[in-house]
Amino acid sequence: MNIETRKALIKGNNQKPVQIKETEEDVVLNLSLRPRKLLEFVGHKEVAENLKIAIAAAKQRKEPLEHLLLSGPPGLGKTSLAHIVAHEMGTKITATSGPAIERAGDLIGILTNLEKGDILFIDEIHRLSKVVEEFLYPAMENFQIDFIIDKGQFARTIKFNLKPFTLVGATTRTGLLAAPLRGRFGIFYNLDFYSIGDLARIVKNSAKILNLDIEDAAAEEIARRSRGTPRVANRLLRRVRDFAQVHKITRIDHATAARSLDDLGIDKAGLDDLDRKVLRLVLETYNGGPVGIESIAASLNEETDTVADTVEPYLLKAGYLKRTSRGRQATKLAYEHFGIKYEKQEQMF
Ligand SMILES: Nc1ncnc2c1ncn2[C@@H]1O[C@H](COP(=O)(O)OP(=O)(O)OP(=O)(O)O)[C@@H](O)[C@H]1O
Ligand SMILES: [Mg+2]
Repeated sequence: MNIETRKALIKGNNQKPVQIKETEEDVVLNLSLRPRKLLEFVGHKEVAENLKIAIAAAKQRKEPLEHLLLSGPPGLGKTSLAHIVAHEMGTKITATSGPAIERAGDLIGILTNLEKGDILFIDEIHRLSKVVEEFLYPAMENFQIDFIIDKGQFARTIKFNLKPFTLVGATTRTGLLAAPLRGRFGIFYNLDFYSIGDLARIVKNSAKILNLDIEDAAAEEIARRSRGTPRVANRLLRRVRDFAQVHKITRIDHATAARSLDDLGIDKAGLDDLDRKVLRLVLETYNGGPVGIESIAASLNEETDTVADTVEPYLLKAGYLKRTSRGRQATKLAYEHFGIKYEKQEQMF
């Protein structure tokens, strides 16, 4: 999709009623804001540079790219990179996810349909079942799958040759990936949270696609409150855009951005409602910790995975929580954020 088509897509959706939560319109916008080429991928210079070389080398050799594993918290660009790889290699991408491949048969169906050089993208690859995972090993290694036909004494293994393809796996947690699977990837990148400068660039690029007039200071304010995450930055930009539209503001300045983000409950440090709930729980109910992640999730009636994948990594990175052998502990910064006195807890650390 070129930039004009993307703008047209957005224009068509412009007149819909304004809503605060993620809507269908958001999904369309999200797709239109996704970088298509390596050149459009902001930040993570080293990853982009390495990938560029790996892709150029594979193309020169007329071979598929080696299997690629991408890890990192949600919204940092794993799916985007998978699509970018397909675009840069000039190949087709088939996207699926760990939980979607229930039986080995599902995987065989997908694998046998791949053309030479195709990309198979498996999101949440850590959630593949053991049986399916073992089917994947020979497919990744020798581009072969082993069928077992018949049962008991008549059981025979038939080898089926696949066309050479590239598996791109994405995971929020490499720790949950079995070592034999991890070892079969030739290239491995871990995506970390983005700098405020990179996020501000993403916000400005997205504003251009959305036909928004935004001041640099406003883009930076959105970036500062985006939890280091491009997906959050784009989402906040869309909410600021709603606010500006409703208030008939044509140029988004710092005050407009700050005001609408305050209204959304995103505080000055960029923490949202769930972040604050988690921190308050650790500080107030568990007296600063240490407390296990399961207890945090259970107390808040949230899934452990949600807390572990989306909340905790940023709170650790931003220095509000720290990991200890006995669980998560609130830091001085967390106390200060809520204006709670820190000294009396000092001896507990
Ligand atoms: N480096 C980047 N440059 C520009 N935009 C980006 C970048 N990374 C991510 N984005 C934006 O953030 C959105 C979310 O990225 P993406 O879907 O690739 O994340 P993800 O890591 O796959 O997340 P999840 O783990 O939740 O699947 C994209 O649609 C895109 O708009
Ligand atoms: Mg994704």
